[in-house]
Amino acid sequence: MYFPLYRPAGRRHCFPPMSWNRRHLLTIEELSVAEIGLIHTTAAAFKKILARGEKSFSALRGKTIVNLFLEPSTRTRLAFEMAARRLSADVIAFDAASSSTTKGETLRDTAQNIRALGADMIILRHAAAGSPLYLSRLLDIPVINAGDGAHEHPTQGLLDTFTMQEHLGSLRGRKVVILGDILFSRVARSNIHALTKLGAVVTIVGPSTLVPPWFTALGVTVSHDLRSALADAEVVMLLRIQHERQMAGMFPSLGEYTGMFGLNKTRAGWLKPGALIMHPGPINRGVEIDSELADGANSVILEQVTNGIVVRMAVLHLCAGGQPEDVITAA
Ligand code: CP
Repeated sequence: MYFPLYRPAGRRHCFPPMSWNRRHLLTIEELSVAEIGLIHTTAAAFKKILARGEKSFSALRGKTIVNLFLEPSTRTRLAFEMAARRLSADVIAFDAASSSTTKGETLRDTAQNIRALGADMIILRHAAAGSPLYLSRLLDIPVINAGDGAHEHPTQGLLDTFTMQEHLGSLRGRKVVILGDILFSRVARSNIHALTKLGAVVTIVGPSTLVPPWFTALGVTVSHDLRSALADAEVVMLLRIQHERQMAGMFPSLGEYTGMFGLNKTRAGWLKPGALIMHPGPINRGVEIDSELADGANSVILEQVTNGIVVRMAVLHLCAGGQPEDVITAA
């Protein structure tokens, strides 16, 4: 089922036909198509209200949100912080480098102390897959996954599909290619779950060491032939090489990776004309994508970043107990 991002002309309201019942956002894998639609619809309503110049909402006034980022981040951390501030929450950015985690304090103790200090929600980025699930079972407050190891990055998958829908409408039958380091990418997994649930036809492509055959179990086509994978694709999403998670020897050298799988102008010509070029960031310019494409007319990379704010506003609003119609009615 696909919910239109915007209310059809002539209709006062277009509410998705269910309410939001989750306290945590841990994975896209566990979300239904309807729940993805609720987040997208709520984000679209926030975007419409922001476009009118209304910059803040009182939904989370008096709530304290802790950004518990134990891996580096620019986009996700700042977008969550901006989203929380737009909803009038108090936001505390946990500084991992100066925290007692450097003295060996565990994630469990860190999180329980943050809760004891009065936090109403924790946004967690951690190198360990499953760490948000672990905290969600330990704490009595919402836990939002901002990226757990190579497992999932659900808000990235939600903002990526939101951005695609803004350009393409329904994703049913749309041909989407995800190119690069799939094996170590939480972005790839979250996008695969979101895209296949929304009906897109997904091909993952890259070296066989980084794109193993068992990914077909997730409902995607595995390819190591860039030209045939890109042929007539409507979206290509580049992923960076995750050096921090890889063992040595996944491919001979960065230069050889770029030579075989880097997106350049010639290879972009194999795409369907007007195809969207996406990247979750951070970009390694000249490795997985040439600058002229990253900054070119078909790139929506910075739109992805901007949409990250309203998608995260929607997630915070819903997981804090709000409903889509609270926002849609105001839009
Ligand atoms: N896309 C993404 O997760 O970027 P950051 O690591 O900068 O948050």
